[in-house]
Amino acid sequence: MNKKFLSASILSANFSILGKEIKNVLKSGVDMIHFDVMDNHYVPNLTFGPMVLDSIKKLNFSAPIDVHIMAKPVDDLILKFAKCGATFITIHPESTKHLNRTLDIIKENGCKVGLAINPASSTKILDYVIEKLDLILIMSVDPGFSNQKFILNTFKKIHKVKKKINLIKKKIYISVDGGIKICHIQPLLKLGVDILVIGSYIFNNNNYKYIIKKIKNKMNFL
Ligand code: DX5
Ligand code: ZN
Repeated sequence: MNKKFLSASILSANFSILGKEIKNVLKSGVDMIHFDVMDNHYVPNLTFGPMVLDSIKKLNFSAPIDVHIMAKPVDDLILKFAKCGATFITIHPESTKHLNRTLDIIKENGCKVGLAINPASSTKILDYVIEKLDLILIMSVDPGFSNQKFILNTFKKIHKVKKKINLIKKKIYISVDGGIKICHIQPLLKLGVDILVIGSYIFNNNNYKYIIKKIKNKMNFL
């Protein structure tokens, strides 16, 4: 079976000690860091930008950083996040007028290419751009906030996306983002999800070692 990854969404971290929070979750076993960029325009919330990513990179860890941009316009931001060392850059199709061009910008600047699909958006768009993608981020909540309720329709959508991926030869990661709790882990992985993005379920627990171990045990015990 392919390796499964746990990505910690730092949107729920304590920003006053962000570096320490990242070191702690990495030490406790998360595989990736998920960095939610929000602009109070594409989504009704405001978070962090390239300067913060730049500081985080100075912590010098090897885990990939998965930059999820919920901002519009997006093309210029991609250049900045690529320069700061993003591993994956994931964007929403609604945030650009010309999706092919935007996906090309991500790749040309040395990052892995991700596309996010909102809960009420169709997967049809994948038919036109799937070959450019390294990652498909299936949103299981409307983007904008942590600690929302997981939307159950996500399971149907994963199934559809998996079928499309199976038709092409390239490895494309399926990542699911939003509202994930312990009860969702096994059903998601069984459907072929590769990356679980989890925020509040990790950071709202005061023992990261304990909660990450609990999640990892579920992930490994399929
Ligand atoms: C929502 C963000 C998610 C969010 C996940 O817009 O993209 O990454 O932080 O956090 P939880 O796990 O709390 O839903
Ligand atoms: Zn996210």
